[in-house]
Amino acid sequence: MSKLFGVSSKKTYQAKETRYDKMNYRRCGKSGLLLPEISLGLWHNFGFTDNFENARNLLKCAFDKGITHFDLANNYGPPYGAAESNFGTIFKKDFKPYRDELIISSKAGWDMWSGPYGNFGSRKYLISSLDQSLQRMGLDYVDIFYHHRPDPETPMEETMGALDHIVRQGKALYVGISQYSADETLKAAKILKQLGTPCLIHQPRYNMMDRWVENGLLDVLENEGVGAIAFSPLQQGILTDKYLAGFPEDSRAVKDGRYLKTEQIDKKLISKVKQLNKIAKARGQSLAQMAIAWLLKDQRITSVLVGASKSEQLLDSLKALDNLEFSAENLEQIEAVLK
Ligand SMILES: NC(=O)c1ccc[n+]([C@@H]2O[C@H](COP(=O)([O-])OP(=O)(O)OC[C@H]3O[C@@H](n4cnc5c(N)ncnc54)[C@H](OP(=O)(O)O)[C@@H]3O)[C@@H](O)[C@H]2O)c1
Repeated sequence: MSKLFGVSSKKTYQAKETRYDKMNYRRCGKSGLLLPEISLGLWHNFGFTDNFENARNLLKCAFDKGITHFDLANNYGPPYGAAESNFGTIFKKDFKPYRDELIISSKAGWDMWSGPYGNFGSRKYLISSLDQSLQRMGLDYVDIFYHHRPDPETPMEETMGALDHIVRQGKALYVGISQYSADETLKAAKILKQLGTPCLIHQPRYNMMDRWVENGLLDVLENEGVGAIAFSPLQQGILTDKYLAGFPEDSRAVKDGRYLKTEQIDKKLISKVKQLNKIAKARGQSLAQMAIAWLLKDQRITSVLVGASKSEQLLDSLKALDNLEFSAENLEQIEAVLK
């Protein structure tokens, strides 16, 4: 590294000036916040066992294309906390000058540390977990803090009270919930409204093969003015062409084995994926692109939260935005395969 007049000439990341040219931003429910139609999640590929430079390139590639939202959680890794630590290192190296252009989220709700205070939905867990997350990421605040899953045993008033408190502390700008049912969401949204901290967003799993949100949740979100960000839109990679000719060594099903197992991807499933792939091709899209576009055709979906193991995948997925239109015939063909 050479120095000229005391100024380091080491090359630092310069985000592309064209980064906002193509991305569309949707309003998150009835809030003031706009989110990109595609956001990037750090659940996989950002742990200590993953390639750090690859993770770094993924974040740069995303931001250069207008993906302003990165989604994390306390337990993303492996090991737990590693994705936040790696993100913190990358943030410090590359993204600090862009903090005000970024929406960074984290969550607590699943098991994180031993003992009675590192899981579920107590005020004790949520507040201390966010403090740890901020430390790992080297941030003063997150933009969105989520309760990661409903807790059947903690009074919802306590959990929502903790979220409200976190916002008043200035440690999160907005709060959200994840994996809450339609009824639980309605209850949570009402409590948060009373507290004066509206529920910004819900993060449910939603994709062509997992449709539970259509059974009431999306209606509740619309009525309550809450945004929706769909996670695992590609069903962890199943809704792509990657498993059509077997199991690639570097795929999640082979490498992970915990959240996605090769046994889940049987002949019957592959036959459906093949038919979907054919429909996608006829639309001039890859299957991943069609799966993302299929979600974004519904304006109640604020953003589609993808994962990626390589920048090329992200670039492929981003092309979904070139065609979000579906003819009635197209939709019928898709339903016929999925039924
Ligand atoms: N709130 C919750 O409880 C919860 C739960 C799960 C996830 N999430 C969030 O949602 C995010 C996304 O979840 P996810 O990773 O399951 O999403 P996903 O988009 O359904 O799956 C991502 C995986 O699909 C493959 N892929 C992605 N783009 C591809 C393309 N264009 N062509 C071929 N393959 C492609 C890659 O798998 P390979 O590794 O096989 O290459 C990638 O890792 C997470 O990072 C997290 O932020 C939240």
